[in-house]
Amino acid sequence: MIEAERRLLANALMDFSNQRFVLLSEACIPLFNFSTIYAYLMNSTQSYIEAYDKDSPVGRGRYNEKMSPHITIDQWRKGSQWFEMDRELALEVVSDQFYFPLFQSYCANACYSDEHYLPTFVTMKFTPKNSNRTLTWVDWSRAGIHPVTYLRPLVTVEFLKALRHGSQCEYNGQSSNICYLFARKFSTDSLIRLLRFAPKVMYFNK
Ligand SMILES: *[C@@H]1O[C@H](CO)[C@@H](O)[C@H](O)[C@H]1NC(C)=O
Repeated sequence: MIEAERRLLANALMDFSNQRFVLLSEACIPLFNFSTIYAYLMNSTQSYIEAYDKDSPVGRGRYNEKMSPHITIDQWRKGSQWFEMDRELALEVVSDQFYFPLFQSYCANACYSDEHYLPTFVTMKFTPKNSNRTLTWVDWSRAGIHPVTYLRPLVTVEFLKALRHGSQCEYNGQSSNICYLFARKFSTDSLIRLLRFAPKVMYFNK
């Protein structure tokens, strides 16, 4: 998975006009129109790789002591696999030849390297460059190993408005109510409603 992410970044880096790199899935939707998302990312002083320390089986429990002393348990981080980073950080990720092999050797199968490699690597080496938060909203409110999938009836104008402005976070050192530019997971049958609401609620051009 990390190898695939590095290849995607490497390919995207070859185009010098690419300054910001976002990984999304087919179940993600944009919450704002292109010009808003572009301005938010291009004017941001930081990257958005979620990184937190969680003392639980799905957090620190996935740490392998064989990574020590290069990565200690205190340095181990977890975060969403859906990232956003600037060009400088993307170059660091594709050229990392030290931490990546450690993950290849000691973070396999139930370790889920895509939830740990970037958060750990970026926190260890580039803390000031990272906001530690993700730009992709997700609903983990229901128990289980997968987040909630939003089917068509759940997609309403009120719901989309709450996703766009219903949170508080820091952006360039200031308080902001635009914390998420994307959201998941949305089923394909919700597309009909999303397209209907997009011009009015999200200001997409018709
Ligand atoms: C991100 O996390 C690191 C340590 O885990 C912390 O030192 C840093 O201040 C955090 N950054 C922000 C913007 O909260």
